[in-house]
Amino acid sequence: MTQDELKKAVAKAAVDYIQPKLDSDSIVGVGTGSTANFFIDYLADIKGSFDGTVASSEASAERLKAHGIPVYDLNSVDGMAVYVDGADETNPALELIKGGGAALTREKIVAAVADEFVCIADGSKWVDVLGNFPLPVEVIPMARSHVARELVKLGGDPVYREGCITDNGNVILDVHNMAITNPKATEAAINQIVGVVTNGLFAERAADVLLIGRENGVETIKA
Ligand code: 5RP
Repeated sequence: MTQDELKKAVAKAAVDYIQPKLDSDSIVGVGTGSTANFFIDYLADIKGSFDGTVASSEASAERLKAHGIPVYDLNSVDGMAVYVDGADETNPALELIKGGGAALTREKIVAAVADEFVCIADGSKWVDVLGNFPLPVEVIPMARSHVARELVKLGGDPVYREGCITDNGNVILDVHNMAITNPKATEAAINQIVGVVTNGLFAERAADVLLIGRENGVETIKA
């Protein structure tokens, strides 16, 4: 199977997984990226089974609306049954690196609100130790050089993501060469740097369920 076929398989599996949990009042949180896009396309098939969605990016909001799926502002909903999103890496504790698509801050906010976080990923995203994928850090633009120097002190090699402005008007530093053996500690340490909005480690709020696509089918792993 190609990587896209694996992404489609987990996206379909996510719709099958969440459908029994939804009713006409339910709000579904929707992530960002190519796997999340496949999820949005399958979600359209069951759009009568829930109230609406909250999107973690402008791009996902546009795709949802194009399918005729209602999109709400997060401040106008009381809660969220489930959040479904992809990842750049996952470890066996379902701690994640996210933000390859620069949507990490809104993704982290929506994940924080959701009762259940379902991560969908093809098998290439599975690692024992996080950090092979460069860790995205969203930064207030005027703090970029300061934050980069502080990230070097933490042992990383930050690289400015040229030409990338987040939906929040900020910039991204991608931190290379960090073997992240204690994800919660690294998440907290980076968030302490003045000028950091947030970083792409999802360890404090890890996924609750991982649907991972492998050659022999979709495996469900619970934290
Ligand atoms: C966007 C993300 C995505 O979930 C992550 O980059 C995975 O993307 P894809 O599904 O395209 O592989 O965190 O900010």
